[in-house]
Amino acid sequence: MADQTLFDLSDRAFIVTGASSGIGAAMAGFLSEAGAHVIGIARRAGRLNALANTITENGGRFSALAADLGERSTLDDVANDCLKLAGRADGVINAAGINLREAVDEVSLESWDQTLNLNLATPFFFTRALVKDMQSRGWGKVINIASLQSSRAFTNGLPYGASKSGICQLTRAMAEAWSNQGITCNAIAPGFFPTELTAPVFGDENTANWAATQTAIGRNGELEDLRGPTLFFASKASDYVTGQTLYVDGGFTAK
Ligand SMILES: NC(=O)c1ccc[n+]([C@@H]2O[C@H](COP(=O)([O-])OP(=O)(O)OC[C@H]3O[C@@H](n4cnc5c(N)ncnc54)[C@H](OP(=O)(O)O)[C@@H]3O)[C@@H](O)[C@H]2O)c1
Repeated sequence: MADQTLFDLSDRAFIVTGASSGIGAAMAGFLSEAGAHVIGIARRAGRLNALANTITENGGRFSALAADLGERSTLDDVANDCLKLAGRADGVINAAGINLREAVDEVSLESWDQTLNLNLATPFFFTRALVKDMQSRGWGKVINIASLQSSRAFTNGLPYGASKSGICQLTRAMAEAWSNQGITCNAIAPGFFPTELTAPVFGDENTANWAATQTAIGRNGELEDLRGPTLFFASKASDYVTGQTLYVDGGFTAK
């Protein structure tokens, strides 16, 4: 008989960064609908509180935690606040990210640092601060968010692409460090999904159509397309999968 609990997240607590918008907000919803208590982090408290209302009205559990994850010195404190709110951490989704879209000659030391810090350093240091709690129970799920730019170079994406390529190697290195303690570490690499981050793409019909035609399926992503991959990596369904990056891109990188 099929295991009906394979994707069940009841009694689990997940931390989701970047939960005020786009992919992070959608993933927070998927996890809570599967039974998890979700702690959502971002800077915009109002957006987090609105999501909390929606999720709790639907019978889910969501706690909002407003924090700037670009402030490295506070990451341990933010992780401890998450543990206080949920009592535990069974997994983390590192979805907070920025793409400043600067031309190569415009990239400054400051914009490089800002991008690499939030997109690459924060997922490592923040996750490391949460992993001890997962280790105490011998089970945990780390999900990083990669990108088409993990393996493709796009115009005006140099620091972003460097950070997202780094995320794939960070995911392998996290897997090497923590998987023998029951913690799987994987990344999801979305194709083009309509969010605030991709407003410049979807705001231009020609660019959005170009992106769709680059896929094998023939359309751009919809946030619902991320539900299955998110629940796979967040649940015991993926307990023997680690260090991997799954492209959820409609076949963009297959063409
Ligand atoms: N959309 C796509 O097609 C696509 C494709 C590939 C990869 N991705 C990746 O998916 C992830 C989510 O992106 P998205 O498309 O959903 O973009 P988005 O709608 O712009 O969301 C970005 C999130 O990151 C948070 N964030 C930014 N700076 C932060 C900071 N300093 N501290 C805390 N939170 C911060 C934002 O919240 P606040 O502004 O409230 O702080 C927001 O919740 C990113 O890692 C992105 O690179 C997206």
